[in-house]
Amino acid sequence: MDLKGKTAIITGASRGIGYKVAEKLASQGVHVMIAAREKQTLDKAVEDIKKKAASGTKVFGVVTDVAKLADLENLYNEAKKQFGHLDILVNNAGVSSQYSFEKQPIEDIEKLVMTNYLGYVRLIRLAINDMIGRKQGAIINMVSGSTLVDPVPRGFVTYSSIKVGLKAFLKGLFWEMRDHGIKITSILPGVVDTDLTGKLQDITSEQKDRLMSADAVVDMVMFALSVPSNACPLELAVINQQTPWTKPVIDFKQEQAK
Ligand SMILES: NC(=O)c1ccc[n+]([C@@H]2O[C@H](COP(=O)([O-])OP(=O)(O)OC[C@H]3O[C@@H](n4cnc5c(N)ncnc54)[C@H](OP(=O)(O)O)[C@@H]3O)[C@@H](O)[C@H]2O)c1
Repeated sequence: MDLKGKTAIITGASRGIGYKVAEKLASQGVHVMIAAREKQTLDKAVEDIKKKAASGTKVFGVVTDVAKLADLENLYNEAKKQFGHLDILVNNAGVSSQYSFEKQPIEDIEKLVMTNYLGYVRLIRLAINDMIGRKQGAIINMVSGSTLVDPVPRGFVTYSSIKVGLKAFLKGLFWEMRDHGIKITSILPGVVDTDLTGKLQDITSEQKDRLMSADAVVDMVMFALSVPSNACPLELAVINQQTPWTKPVIDFKQEQAK
């Protein structure tokens, strides 16, 4: 895909992975609309991305809570109003959550479903018919490398199983949308150095040193957008050589006893 002049929505792009993706796309001449809940951080991100954007590239910010359908409708309508049509959707906004299940508040479970699952599915549903009409479009989704672990990591059972469900949905959608010329890609990042992982409990300084930079994930997004028009990466995993999940997933004492 020649990116110059294309249009994109990137959710959760006021910081972290989404910000880096938006910055990169704008630097390549993609007109971007970024979304997040907190206005001040979003406004600052818009200003910073403008400084790195290719000349003539438009950068907009729309305050959005992806857990709310009305906010998603507003975001998509704004993109249509400003851009006329949407070429690229990067579903990225997500929240983390680390609990033993018996201690996890019900509200936290609901928030994960609304944000990390419905936030993606609903926005795709809003955008898909125009893409089908134009017989083109790329939808890139930030899933999680934790979906590669079976059973899903302890302490992240709700978060990771929702991402597993999301990955399954996207895999099915890949085949359905292939018939319409639309590309659906899931990115499965390992553990990336962002605010999201900064909140993890029991992460040691040694483990923190192993976190990937968001640039590794940006490279995956750019790869997905750069393959020939008759090809599409279905799932791209970029994983740390060792992750903090190694500890809860594999019981170290049992390993030693073998
Ligand atoms: N970091 C990792 O190790 C890692 C690994 C695998 C997958 N992922 C996935 O990658 C995505 C991005 O993670 P990250 O590490 O970059 O997170 P982050 O640094 O915490 O940034 C999250 C971004 O999403 C926005 N956001 C959160 N909830 C939102 C909502 N309800 N509506 C709209 N925007 C929302 C945040 O802004 P506001 O708070 O202002 O809304 C922020 O811009 C997530 O889907 C996450 O599950 C991350």
